[in-house]
Amino acid sequence: MFLDFATVEPRQAYFWMASTITPRPVAWVSSLSAAGVTNLAPFSFFQMITASPPTLMISPLINSDGSMKDTPHNIRETGEFVVNLVSYPMVDSMNATSFGFDRQLSEFEQCGIEATPSSLVKPPRVAKASVSFECKLAHFMPYPRESPSCYVVFGTVIAAHIDESILGADQKVDPRRLDLVSRMGADWYGRTNAEENFELVRPKGWAR
Ligand SMILES: Cc1cc2nc3c(=O)[nH]c(=O)nc-3n(C[C@H](O)[C@H](O)[C@H](O)COP(=O)(O)O)c2cc1C
Repeated sequence: MFLDFATVEPRQAYFWMASTITPRPVAWVSSLSAAGVTNLAPFSFFQMITASPPTLMISPLINSDGSMKDTPHNIRETGEFVVNLVSYPMVDSMNATSFGFDRQLSEFEQCGIEATPSSLVKPPRVAKASVSFECKLAHFMPYPRESPSCYVVFGTVIAAHIDESILGADQKVDPRRLDLVSRMGADWYGRTNAEENFELVRPKGWAR
C-alpha cells in the first residue's frame, strides 16, 4: 500500500500516523484556570525534547469545533502545568479524564481522582502518580501558524516527584516496577512491564 499524503484527508492522516507511530507515552496533564478550576487530561502527543534545560512537549489538537482544549487554554493563562505519568492501575481513571467536561468542572472531582499540592507550581499533581514533573511554560506555538490544528506546548521541567517504589536495587528506574501505559493505535495500549521488553547495550565508543 502506498499513500501519497497530498491526497490523504487529515482524518485519514491521523489514523495512519497515530496507529503506527507507537508506542507513545501518555502525559496526564494537570493545570489550573485563571478562575482557579483544576483540570486533568491525557495527551499522547508527548515527548522529552532536551535535558538542558530540562524540556518536554505536548501537542493538544484543536477541538472539532475549532476551539482550544482546556489544557492549552489554562497553560497559556497561568504559565504552569504538571505532567503526571500513567501507570497501569490508573489507566481507567486516565481514560475517564479524556471526556470533554465543561471548563468549569474539574476532572479531579468528576472522576474521583486524588490531588495533592505541587511544590513549586500552583496546579496540583495526581497523588498516586509514580512520577510527576512540575513545569513552567517555555513556548506556546500554534501550528501551522496561519491555520492552527494544534498548540504545541514546550514546558521547562523545574521539579520532579518520583516514588521510590519504582527503583530497583541499583537505585535506577526499573520499567517493570514503573509499569507505565503507552498509547497504541485506536483503543490499544501497551505496558512497560510487558514480557517482551528486553535490554540492549549500546555499541562501545558512543559518548552519550
Ligand atoms: C490516551 C489518550 C491520549 C490522548 N492524546 C491526546 C493528544 O495527544 N492530543 C489531543 O489533543 N488530545 C488527546 N487526547 C484527547 C484529550 O485527552 C481530550 O480531548 C480531553 O478532553 C482534553 O481535555 P481538556 O479539554 O480538559 O484539555 C487523548 C486521549 C487519550 C485517552
